[in-house]
This record gives sequence, structure tokens and C-alpha cells, in this order.
Amino acid sequence: MRYSKIVGLGHHVPETVITNQYLSTVMETNDEWIVERTGIKERRWMDPTKDTVGNMAAKAARIALQRASLTEKDIDFIVFATITPDYFFPGSGVLLQRELGLEGIGALDIRNACSGFIYALSVADQFIKSGMYKTILVVGAEIQSTAIDVSTRGRNTAVIFADGAGAAILQPSDKPGILSTHLHSDGRFAEELYVRDPGSSRPREERQPEQILDTTHFKVVMNGNQVFKHAVVRFMEVINEALHANGMKKEDIDLLVPHQANLRISQYIQEKLALRDDQVYNNIMRYGNTTAASIPIAMSEAWAEGKMKENDVICLAAFGSGFTWASALIRW
Ligand code: UT7
Repeated sequence: MRYSKIVGLGHHVPETVITNQYLSTVMETNDEWIVERTGIKERRWMDPTKDTVGNMAAKAARIALQRASLTEKDIDFIVFATITPDYFFPGSGVLLQRELGLEGIGALDIRNACSGFIYALSVADQFIKSGMYKTILVVGAEIQSTAIDVSTRGRNTAVIFADGAGAAILQPSDKPGILSTHLHSDGRFAEELYVRDPGSSRPREERQPEQILDTTHFKVVMNGNQVFKHAVVRFMEVINEALHANGMKKEDIDLLVPHQANLRISQYIQEKLALRDDQVYNNIMRYGNTTAASIPIAMSEAWAEGKMKENDVICLAAFGSGFTWASALIRW
């Protein structure tokens, strides 16, 4: 049996640190509210003179390659998860392919928001298991800071979402590796967390910039309460599904790396699974919610801190816009 295995992890975040204190100077909010409701103390925002989704992804990818003792030339396919591509089209996969100088290889874009990295991992896992590709670069990268409404009107999203990139390299292995992945969606809730434009299904005149300047249509709109309520249920469901599929129990998890949505969501899951603090990796305090980038950034940091050891059972889980939710169980 052929499995896939993560052989390298890397991440890159912009240099500019945005503190809660700074946010309280541009909108009606304060450090106490943000820390109490979300756990976030600071996040990174892109510098328009330096950072793009594509080049942050390339930096994360190069670190992952180096840690795996591989080079760009070894990559034969890219799966790129982002909902904030540099262009409306083409997608970010081709920009990363160009940036890394990988002539002609396939590049697939995944648009499943906070669950995007696990969806991407699942696709790459199937390609490796089927024998189609040997070395796949899986990336989650986002620039959310330019799509958030940095005013009191947008404060429920502006304090949460942020920028960064994470990468994983997958290769075949004769022992697991990725044990299973589980993907779900429920589009009835699409508008509970979305950016409406530039959507295609409108009268032509509504896509003209002068008509939309004064709307929130290009900004992130979120019904935070709804998202929170669904998230806590779906996170638990999809983690239990992964454990059940592998004949495991919650006690078998060595490390849970949840999508960094909100520290309160992670703490809720930790309590339900009766995991110790050192069994759940959280870095939302330093980076905020970086959507598809949050899991690979967290995995990259956890690995660098020695928190993922050979044979450990690592559980990834995510919930977000769509709604979509997903999990992956990995034998490290
Ligand atoms: O990645 C997956 C997607 N996202 C998530 O998982 C996020 C899920 N949702 C959440 O994390 C939470 O719903 C939020 C952190 C967004 C909001 O926390 P909440 O406890 O659900 O607050 P709320 O929306 O019920 O708002 C409570 C109050 C409101 O004021 P009033 O109406 O009670 O006077 C808000 O206007 O807090 C106010 N508020 C703020 N106050 C200070 C909302 N945002 C802020 C803010 N600073 N940034």
C-alpha cells in the first residue's frame, strides 16, 4: 500500500506587527475585548511594497524544501489553498509555479477558506496514493488585511483576520503518513462569512467601481455568532469522524493542530477532548486568523519546537466560510 507523508514544513509571515493597541487607535475597540473574545494579541499585515500571496508562499515553500533536503526541481505538482489570490484570475498556483521557476508543472487552486489547507492536503494525498505525482507542494497563503474593513463598522472581522503563508511537501511512503482526510460543506450558510465581490452574477453596471465604492461588497462580512455556534459543533464532529475512521479514541491524539479561528473555539474543543495544554497547538495570539494559512503555519512552528515526533498521531481540524469543515489524521 502506498501512503503519502509530509516530509517538510515551512512558513512565512509579513514583518509588520499590528497590535490590539494600534487597532484601538483606528476603530472603537480595545485590547481587553479582543483578548477576551478571541485570544489575539497581535497579528501580521502585509507591506504592499514587499508582500504578495505568491511570494510569501514561495518563501514558505523554500523553507519546507530545505527542511526536507529537497530543491524546487523535485516538485512535480502544486496545490495552492487561498481565498485571497493576488488576482481575481488566474489563481495563485500559477504565480507560485512562476516564482519558483518550475516549468510546466500543474498548479491547482483550492478556495475552501479556513478548511482550504486540509482540502488541499486531501487532494495531494490522493494524487500521491494513486501514483500520479511524487513530490507535491501544498500551500495555504492569505492576505486578508486588504479585504477587511478597518473601521468600527468592520471591527468584528478586522481584529481577527490577518496575513501569512505556510507550506508542506508531500511524498510517497510505504507506511503512513496521512491516515485519512474528511471533507464537508453546507452552502446554506455561504453568506454568513463571505466577500461578495467581484462576483459575476450581477448587472454589469454593479461591477463598475463607482457603483460599489461606498458598499461593503468588497469587504469581509461575517455573522460571528452563527459562525461560532456552527464551528464548535462541526469541529467536534469532524474530529470524531477521523478518530472513528481509524479505530482510534481521543486519548490516541498526541497533538491537535486546529485552524486558528478563535482561541475560545480551540479551548472548547480541548476541553471536550480532555486534552492537556501541550496537546493543542495555538499561535492565534501572535498571528490572528490567517484562514488557509493558519494550519500549515501552526504545524511548521509546532514541528520546529519539537512538538511533532516520529509516530505521534497528529489531528488537524478546520471550520470556516462555506460553511466548510474538514479534518485529517496523520501518523508522524
Ligand atoms: O475562521 C473561521 C471563521 N471565523 C470564526 O471562527 C469566528 C467566529 N466568531 C467569533 O470568533 C466571535 O463571534 C467574534 C469574536 C467575531 C465576536 O465575538 P462575540 O462574543 O460573538 O461578540 P458579538 O458579535 O456578539 O458582539 C458583542 C458586542 C457587540 O456590541 P453590542 O451589540 O453588545 O453593543 C459588538 O458590536 O461586541 C461588539 N464588538 C466589538 N467590541 C469591541 C464586536 N466587535 C468588536 C470589537 N471591539 N472588535
